Parts: sequence; structure tokens; C-alpha cells
Amino acid sequence: MQTKKIPLDITKATTSRLAEVDFDNLVFGKYYTDHMMVCDYENGKWNTPKIMPYGPLSVEPSCKAFHYGQAIFEGMKAFKDENGKVWLFRPEENFNRANISCKRMAMPEFPKEYFFEALETLLKLDEAWIKAGDGNSLYIRPFVIATENGVSASPSSAYKFMIICCPAKAYYSSPVKVTIAQKYSRSADGGVGYAKAAGNYGASFYPTNLAKEKGYQQVIWTDASTHQYLEEAGTMNVFFRINNTLITAPTSDRILDGITRKSLIKLAQDQGLQVEIRRITVSELVDAAKNGSLKEMFGAGTAATIAPIEGFEYNGDYYELPEVKDAYSQYLKKSLQDIQYNRAEDKFGWRY
Ligand code: COI
Repeated sequence: MQTKKIPLDITKATTSRLAEVDFDNLVFGKYYTDHMMVCDYENGKWNTPKIMPYGPLSVEPSCKAFHYGQAIFEGMKAFKDENGKVWLFRPEENFNRANISCKRMAMPEFPKEYFFEALETLLKLDEAWIKAGDGNSLYIRPFVIATENGVSASPSSAYKFMIICCPAKAYYSSPVKVTIAQKYSRSADGGVGYAKAAGNYGASFYPTNLAKEKGYQQVIWTDASTHQYLEEAGTMNVFFRINNTLITAPTSDRILDGITRKSLIKLAQDQGLQVEIRRITVSELVDAAKNGSLKEMFGAGTAATIAPIEGFEYNGDYYELPEVKDAYSQYLKKSLQDIQYNRAEDKFGWRY
């Protein structure tokens, strides 16, 4: 991809915190790399992006992001191959989606050349934080916050576009148990479900806590109006395998256009697996669990990659999924990671 070179304002960290990180016991999102990117939007334009040592921000308490949740984020990963070369996976998709989210939240779009120049510079500076080896990655968190001071309920005139990075391993260490939402929703028609708006995630914490109290790690979100259609899983898209057909809901204004989701669909289709992108009801799932045709369920997202689901609760009944040989989740995860870690041909041009 060709982007115009743009100047950056770079201040390097004088010491590295890398030695403080226990890579054998990594907790997702706990340690951040030595540098971050900050780009301010003021007076109707984005200023020169700054790369600087990772550290606290100074904003006033009346800053709009705090009061009205005018904030969005992205999640992406960098992988190191066996020769020490670093690869991003479909970064243009994240860039485009960040701007789709910004638009929905009445925030200014970010220039592409700023994003790529800043990201590449940041990754070069903090390259030592990216470990090679299966499951290791650098989780990259671009985000935008409204920084104008003042609690009037209107879009901010000032923003910060930032990128921070943290070394990551598996998000879930084992398969998860889930419960199907019958009361709460994560999104609604005409809402912001398709955007990576910060509040979508904040609003899911309370129902997820209730699920955890009952012994389920995540909620399978259903449509807000009828709670009959299965839409997402926790912070991920969700796939169901009934017999040998892989089913996932179509994207809509309620469902995130997940990059892992669309990559898995492509990989599955490319391997000749039967994929149906269609709405699927709770009763179809329950019937399939009862008659034994439900073989697999899994969440798909950047942070977790693929999170197998071991069983689900609905109406007080728990349905355990069978152990399957040659699980699609394992096969698809391997196919995806082989591309991400540069171990397989990049048939679709996804590596950067
Ligand atoms: C991602 O997979 O990037 C997510 O959005 C999950 C995140 C909320 C941890």
C-alpha cells in the first residue's frame, strides 16, 4: 500500500520498561510498550502526529469523552514471523472501520497517511516488544477521545487520536460457557452496534457481570426487539456449526463488521466448507443442541482470535456441546494464524 510520507514529531523514551514484563505470565492489557502516538484535532484540523513515551495524559475534568462517551476504539494485532519480520493483519480494514465509527459518533475522520506513518514508526520503535511464536502478538489499540472542555451536550471541537500497544497472548485460556441474553441488549436498530463506540462495551459489563455470577463468562447477545435472533458473543462475532454448516449472522447496524469474522468466512469458503450468512434463532440453536446436530459454537474477534464455547444456558437449561474431532474452530484458527505469522501463502493479500 502506498501512502504519502508525512512528518512526525518523535520523542524517544530514554529507558525501556520491557525488562519489567513477565512474558510467561502475560495478563492481557496490563503492560504497554515504551511509546504511544498522540495526534490532536483542533481548529478543524489534525495536527502533526506525535510519538512519545507512553504515559499519563493531562485533560480537564469537563472533557467531553468523560461525560458523553464520545469515544471510539479499534483492536488490531502485529505478529512476528520466524525470521523476525513484523506483519500487520488487514490494517486497512481497521483504519476504515475507525473512520466509520468516528462518523457515527460525530467525530472527524482521521487521515490515512497519518495513521500508517505513525503506526509503522511506533512499531519500529517498539519492535522488541513483539515476540515471535504461536499465540504471541502485539495488541494495538488505536482510539479517539473527545477532549473539548465543557459539559454542553454537543459534539466536541477537539479530539485526540491515539495508539497504544500491549504484548498479548491468549485472551481466553480455555473454552467459555455462555448464557443467551433474554433481557439485556448490546445494540438496537438505528443505534451504534456496528461502531466500535466505547460505550457499547461499557454497557455490556453489567449484564456480563450478572452472567458471571451465574457461572457464565460471556453473554450471547440477541436482537433487542425480540431476543430471538443470535447476534454476537461477548465482545466478538459468533459462529455456529450445525452438522457441517457454519452459520453466522449477517452484519447490520446492530452487528460489528468484524475483521476476524470476515476472514474466517473467506477461509472457510475457500476450503470448501459450507457457510451460511443468515439470521439464526435461539430455537434453532436449542433444537440443534437437543437433536445433536449442534457441533460447535465459537466467538471470533481480534483479541481472542477464536474462542471456542463449551456450552450455553437458555431459560435455565444448560446445553453442553459435544467434543468434536477435527473442529472447524481449530482448523480455521490454524489457517488464520498461518497467514498472520507468515507461515502460509498470503492468498488474499491480508498481510502488511
Ligand atoms: C477485539 O477483539 O479487538 C475487541 O474489541 C475486544 C476488546 C474489547 C478486548
